[in-house]
Amino acid sequence: MCKRWHDWAGRTLTLEGPPMTDLTVLSADSRTDATWWRQAVVYQVYPRSFADSDGDGLGDIPGLTSRIPYLAGLGVDAIWLSPFYPSALADGGYDVADYRDVHPQLGDLDDFDELMAVAHGAGIKVIVDIVPNHTSDLHQWFVEALASPPGSPARQRYIFRDGKGPDGSRPPSDWISHFGGSAWTRVPDGQWYCHLFAPEQPDLNWDNREVRDDFLVTLRFWADRGVDGFRVDVAHALAKDLSEPLRSKPTLEDHPSMPTDGTDPLYDRDEVHEIYREWREVFDSYDPPRTAVAEACAPSSRRALYARPTELGQAFNFDLLAADYDATAFRDAIAFCLSQAAASGSSSTWVLSNHDVVRHATRYALPPGTDLDEWLISDGSLPRADEETGLRRARAATALMLALPGSSYFYQGEELGLHEVADLPSGALQDPIWLRTQNVKKGRDGCRVPLPWHHEGNAFGFSTGHAWLPQPAGFSRTAVAAQEGRTGTTLEFYREALRVRRQLQTTEELTWVESTDPDVLHFTRPGGWHCLSNFGSTAVPLPDGVVRLTSGQHVAGVLPPETTVWLTEWAPID
Ligand code: NOJ
Repeated sequence: MCKRWHDWAGRTLTLEGPPMTDLTVLSADSRTDATWWRQAVVYQVYPRSFADSDGDGLGDIPGLTSRIPYLAGLGVDAIWLSPFYPSALADGGYDVADYRDVHPQLGDLDDFDELMAVAHGAGIKVIVDIVPNHTSDLHQWFVEALASPPGSPARQRYIFRDGKGPDGSRPPSDWISHFGGSAWTRVPDGQWYCHLFAPEQPDLNWDNREVRDDFLVTLRFWADRGVDGFRVDVAHALAKDLSEPLRSKPTLEDHPSMPTDGTDPLYDRDEVHEIYREWREVFDSYDPPRTAVAEACAPSSRRALYARPTELGQAFNFDLLAADYDATAFRDAIAFCLSQAAASGSSSTWVLSNHDVVRHATRYALPPGTDLDEWLISDGSLPRADEETGLRRARAATALMLALPGSSYFYQGEELGLHEVADLPSGALQDPIWLRTQNVKKGRDGCRVPLPWHHEGNAFGFSTGHAWLPQPAGFSRTAVAAQEGRTGTTLEFYREALRVRRQLQTTEELTWVESTDPDVLHFTRPGGWHCLSNFGSTAVPLPDGVVRLTSGQHVAGVLPPETTVWLTEWAPID
């Protein structure tokens, strides 16, 4: 029973029973709850780097299945699997050769079904990555397209065009690839095909009904196997203006000049939403409806369109991830994302790290404004990362994120406080960005280094063979086994945060409490929950209440620098 409750005027109130918040623990394993995703904690698994069961150095599905108890112990509601499909790995699996199978080195469909059964048995939902903008060049459609003449139906599934100039030797347009260079590659018969990413990732033609229908089959294929949701890769790029002459677009989608009215030739066009309305019909034909989250790098004012309940239902917000470790930047990002969620009727998503960015513990260890590409190319030596500060701030930011209404996305290894591995030798790098930029940018391998499970032994317990990317010696200190059960470690902090968060999850309201200190963010959630985050370098007094979580040192009555604390106005039930 809850016996006491101090309100913020310091009055002691007597309660008949515990406040509702202590009872309203959301069940992670309720298979029929159609709204589970609204406040879920989703753990991103990069399968090739998570756990290897067969010693080939590449993480796989059985390896992941064997670690489901670890994820259940961490307390996550769902896992999102980055692509595990057959692929030549030209872009870490985001070059899919077959959308309805498992890469042979990662297992097979029986292994996937086993994963589903074990995850669901542990109350963990499963989200899979769908990559609809492009296939692999090894996909049977593209192989067929190359073997077919210009103008053939096989070519019309992709974006083939004749080149410019008298001999067609210049690309059909000035479109550029995200990984550097032109977005067009020429094939032996002289035509060119479009790829907004690597040449091994030809873009599909979403004006083609056959392409649309085939993806509906793929969505059903995985939904029938029980997957609970889909993460939609590059969701804003499917619809393109392919009318002749092709329009000029010499910039990427995040360029400031990008129009905000849905008329860009390549990104965030209004027609893309027709596609997701069709997908929604598929999602809603299941019970509970399948969920989806858009990776949509659209102008921020238009992101909510993807999250409409008639479309994908949720969209990633990268605003927190992009913010410096700064109270004003965080508050602005939070306020904006909540307003967008309200506009779409969705809940917000929050994310600080993923497989495409320098880990947040490392970003916060560097001076604000550091050019991360330049820093990586210096092998992480210039400027020097203050790893202790970075981790302290990362934990504070994570605790703040987890107190927000909406769903939080973790990236594997952040619960261990892993830093970016910035000094991978150039011979080990596999990200296409490294090659496509002529070794100017190292790319994203530094956050994809296989996880350390044991503090010693081969590949730190990731594999009995050679890990596909080299792991640093420091992994012996950050391995799961080195942190498990030890008070104060980052792993135990994450576990505690998720345990306490289950009691915090109530309705989705958040109320700001204005602080006199510009470095302190303070908000409340229903039921007498308070989150205070001190971004500054001096301690401030903590209001009266029961401390339920701290991201750092616990000092009675004090909110230390770069620390987040959760307080309740009532004591928890023993
Ligand atoms: C976004 C994914 O997160 C990234 O890893 C990938 O390279 C591109 N989309 C292309 O699929």
